[in-house]
Amino acid sequence: MREQLEKIKTEALERIAGADGLDALNDIRVAYLGKKGELTTVLKSMKDVAPEDRPKVGQMVNEVRALLEEKLEETKAALAAKARQEQLAKEVIDVTLPAKKANIGHSHPNMVALKEVERIFTGMGYEVVEGPEIEYDEYNFTKLNIPPNHPAKDEQDTFYISKDIVLRTQTSPVQARTMEKGKLPIRMISPGRVFRSDEVDATHSPSFHQVEGLVIDKHITFADLKGTLAEFAKEMFGEETKVKFRPHHFPFTEPSAEMDVSCFKCGGKGCRFCKGSGWIEILGCGMVHPHVLEMCGIDPEAYVGFAFGVGLERIALLKYEIDDMRLLYENDIRFLKQF
Ligand code: DAH
Repeated sequence: MREQLEKIKTEALERIAGADGLDALNDIRVAYLGKKGELTTVLKSMKDVAPEDRPKVGQMVNEVRALLEEKLEETKAALAAKARQEQLAKEVIDVTLPAKKANIGHSHPNMVALKEVERIFTGMGYEVVEGPEIEYDEYNFTKLNIPPNHPAKDEQDTFYISKDIVLRTQTSPVQARTMEKGKLPIRMISPGRVFRSDEVDATHSPSFHQVEGLVIDKHITFADLKGTLAEFAKEMFGEETKVKFRPHHFPFTEPSAEMDVSCFKCGGKGCRFCKGSGWIEILGCGMVHPHVLEMCGIDPEAYVGFAFGVGLERIALLKYEIDDMRLLYENDIRFLKQF
């Protein structure tokens, strides 16, 4: 019995020492100390030992058991530590490696110009209003005094979604929507994307941006329009900027005008930038047509107003001296970063 125990002890210790993982170690525990393990079997056969030897043998069995348990625990801790070390080694971070370069975006020139336009008009007490890009023909045309078959409908090559629904060709329908709400007086600008079926070239794109402006109150005159837009031009293009109004025609305003600003490149002397004229066309404007007021539920006897519409790309191209509109749509970060 003594020899058998010695043999079990030596063999078990050897196997424990050679265990290469926690699973193998557990198998060893089961093989010796489990219900059917070798040591347990020895304990069960104590009845065959002579009664006077039993205490001694019993003590020996307990000693071997305690020793094996201790070694198993020790080895288990050592194996777990080793596994942790290996895991850490795998997760090592080389802090000397160069960092990945973060590619940071940049505001688009349109956006920079729009922020400036919004800053100027909100500073004069205007509200910024938005309207839908997919619009009813009725708002895009009819309520702006452009009835069916009106030639102005041809001037703005329209993308039709259905007979009555279009991609808006201008931001002017937001005027009609704002007036219809009936909250007076009105002082608003409305920036947004517009669409026309134009071929792409240096000055055209099928999708571009406008900023609409509308003021409705009592006793508004053309002088208010001139003063407001002259102030806008000065803030946008520089204190020395002069403005000039040329008579024009828009169906939704009467009288209507186009506004030019003195060339901020040559100061009005005439250069390549202003094609020698000293002036640059910047926006369309006019006094809101009484018929438009009426169609939008405002009494033209009591209220008057002015409106204007400016192309955002046009402002951005002029202000940042970009000579091809297509550059604005390529989103090349090397280009964008210059503004
Ligand atoms: N909607 C016009 C266009 O796209 C621009 C415009 C002109 C807007 C005069 C106005 C205005 O509000 O009064 O060409």
